[in-house]
Amino acid sequence: MMQFGERLRMTIFGTSHGPEVGIEVDGLPAGTPVDLPGIQRQLDRRRPVGRRLATKRQEEDRLVVEHGVVDGRSDGTRFRAHVANEDVRREPYDRTQNVPRPGHADFPARVRYGPDADLSGGGIFSGRMTVGLVIAGVLAEGLLRARGVQVAAFTRSIGPVDAAVPDDLDIAALRTLSARNEVESPDAAAAARMEAAILEARRDGDSLGGVVEVRAVGLPVGLGEPFFDSVESVVAHALFSIPAVKAVEFGAGFAAARMRGSEHNDPFVLEGDQVRTSSNHAGGILGGLTTGMPVVARVAIKPTASIARPQRSVDLGTRAGTTLSVTGRHDPCIVPRAVGVVEHVTAFALADLGLRGGFLP
Ligand SMILES: Cc1cc2nc3c(=O)[nH]c(=O)nc-3n(C[C@H](O)[C@H](O)[C@H](O)COP(=O)(O)O)c2cc1C
Repeated sequence: MMQFGERLRMTIFGTSHGPEVGIEVDGLPAGTPVDLPGIQRQLDRRRPVGRRLATKRQEEDRLVVEHGVVDGRSDGTRFRAHVANEDVRREPYDRTQNVPRPGHADFPARVRYGPDADLSGGGIFSGRMTVGLVIAGVLAEGLLRARGVQVAAFTRSIGPVDAAVPDDLDIAALRTLSARNEVESPDAAAAARMEAAILEARRDGDSLGGVVEVRAVGLPVGLGEPFFDSVESVVAHALFSIPAVKAVEFGAGFAAARMRGSEHNDPFVLEGDQVRTSSNHAGGILGGLTTGMPVVARVAIKPTASIARPQRSVDLGTRAGTTLSVTGRHDPCIVPRAVGVVEHVTAFALADLGLRGGFLP
């Protein structure tokens, strides 16, 4: 089942080289504003077209809403939308039917689904499936925005290049980054070095990974379901669904393991009559519930698997060792295109928790 969410549920459909990819969303309350131009803008942000750093796959990604929206609002029934796959070239991938690309899903997918599975272009394991996640996330943002919650993601690092990012980032300013840069980072000088690093990796027939950070502000205190559906569990579940995500941390994350309690604890302070914390090592979450501080998560994206350099593989038909150089059109670094996906998947998970906790209508 390619589904996520409880009260707000998304189901993705399609494959990389089939006729379309898309999404169904159940549970959107009737009357929720659906910003169709906003969805298109976010699809354009995810799209590689015109980007120097991305795959040469050229698709319009025109949003087609099939049902669920009347006069710019949800009618309370299932929302269903898709975009067509237009630039589908099967040839470069044909060898992967028998020779799995190292680092990609080909090998376990072929064993699990057998010879009939359409793994062309990565099949259901392609980054193209994230089109639906973005569409669903914009719907969720419509719900969250009405309650003053904003979610934004940006690039923390690419390869060895780190961005300098202040703790008190203006989230509204963050949201304008996508209009300006291919690498969306608040540290413009680092972003330029990251772009250069990606181009250098591509020239070498290689790829790079990186870290995307997402922040959500304006959440109430106490959101999240105790224990198994803690905010960390639900948000991490959603984030790990994004292809190429290999690690997720909240707040101080792995660095917390090296701190003392006196250092890691976030002291409570009063701001007016609001209880806040003077630091946010907890990433806005204690006991699986939101504290009212920004929810902060970081996601590690691995270097793109499909690289031009020759790599060792095995021909599953002849059972002989071979080498493979991946042709076809690929992203030398997934991070620039994953930023919007991370942002929207997080918004969706938080909106689901919001509906479950009675914070959203
Ligand atoms: C937006 C996006 C674009 C992607 N583009 C590529 C690509 O061009 N080449 C590739 O090998 N992987 C790409 N991926 C990642 C693969 O889909 C993923 O690595 C593969 O399915 C194996 O899954 P795993 O990395 O989660 O284990 C992309 C992922 C995303 C989110």
